Amino acid sequence: MSTLITNIAELMTQDLEHRVLKNAAMVIEGERIAWLGAASAAPPADDAVDAGGRAVLPGWVDSHTHLVFAGDRTAEFEARMAGESYSAGGIAVTVDATRRTSDYDLTKLALARVAEAVSQGTTYLETKTGYGLDVEHEARSARIASTVADEVTYLGAHLVPAGSDADAYTDLACGPMLDAVRPYVRWADVFCEEGAFTPEQSRRVLEACRAAGLGIRVHGNQLGVGAGVRLAVELAAASVDHVNFLAPGDIAALADSWSGWDPASGTGTRGTVATCLPACDLSTRQPLAPGRGLLDAGVQIALASNANPGTSYTSSMAFCVTTAVLQMRLSVHEAVRAATYGGALALHRETGNDADGERAVGSLAVGHRADMQMLNAPSATHLAYRPGMPLTYAVWRAGVRVR
Ligand code: NIG
Repeated sequence: MSTLITNIAELMTQDLEHRVLKNAAMVIEGERIAWLGAASAAPPADDAVDAGGRAVLPGWVDSHTHLVFAGDRTAEFEARMAGESYSAGGIAVTVDATRRTSDYDLTKLALARVAEAVSQGTTYLETKTGYGLDVEHEARSARIASTVADEVTYLGAHLVPAGSDADAYTDLACGPMLDAVRPYVRWADVFCEEGAFTPEQSRRVLEACRAAGLGIRVHGNQLGVGAGVRLAVELAAASVDHVNFLAPGDIAALADSWSGWDPASGTGTRGTVATCLPACDLSTRQPLAPGRGLLDAGVQIALASNANPGTSYTSSMAFCVTTAVLQMRLSVHEAVRAATYGGALALHRETGNDADGERAVGSLAVGHRADMQMLNAPSATHLAYRPGMPLTYAVWRAGVRVR
């Protein structure tokens, strides 16, 4: 079964050539993109959809969320808006509520959050554990996450639970807890920050997880200048996320990690993606991550929602893109790229086509997965031009229209 989508005013492909086609069309066949180009040259298909002069772009790839949780932290948010600053300690409130919630309810909560994200154009999504913090509950979170998300990250090293010795807990996270989550996860992460895990503890966790065959990423430099970025680059992590407070040399180290990568062909050795989380920065009243400076230095960046109950209770990638344009000084094309191709790069899912087992996500090209969104607007520029407006008109995931 093939479907022609025609009368597309703007088709922002985010492919390797950065093509933006006007008066375009595309054909999807099963889960894949079969053709795209000028509407006047479109081949016939079994079915047709008239885009009515709207814009089409890749679905959002949200490479950083924490969706498996229960409970509410409105009071903490209110206190923050009244002048208190964010601290990692709030995580414990969510851990307590999450542990007390049944598997059924926790799954329902996570699924509802995924549905919210999809309804706003997200077509590929990572989520993390990190609100279990003991062997039983981390394994349960990983199992539930694996039923609702495309990619699952083990974040047992999110916070040292009250009453635990930090080094003993790190041993647990590197040993029995890792063994218990291993069947459900592809990635591992650590919150390398004052008040969470020291650089030494973080290194231990990341090395153990890497030895167990997991890809690694780091929560780093969120609350202050720290070792997160340097550790991520040294260990060749797929991404370092937050990156608000960078020491001299951090941006250069990130840029250097991409020296073996050819962006024009999308081949070579991937470096460490710097993932900016602007919704979190606003919700914690932190300085925005320096997305402009990172891009200018040659760093590959991603934008992600960081949806979680503490620092960023939104899965709106459009909001992140809008903020990146209006506040971080990215162009619309750069911001959309970071929220699509950039997220895919951070998850090592930017490549793959008809010849591969897995199809690329995060960009529109023949053979890639047909993951895209149509805006109720003639161009992606409207995402920034009309902040906060409900512009998601239609969403396809693996060729299936899901909205
Ligand atoms: O990415 N920084 C650590 N983890 C989350 C916040 C978790 C929470 O406060 O519940 C984040 O911002």
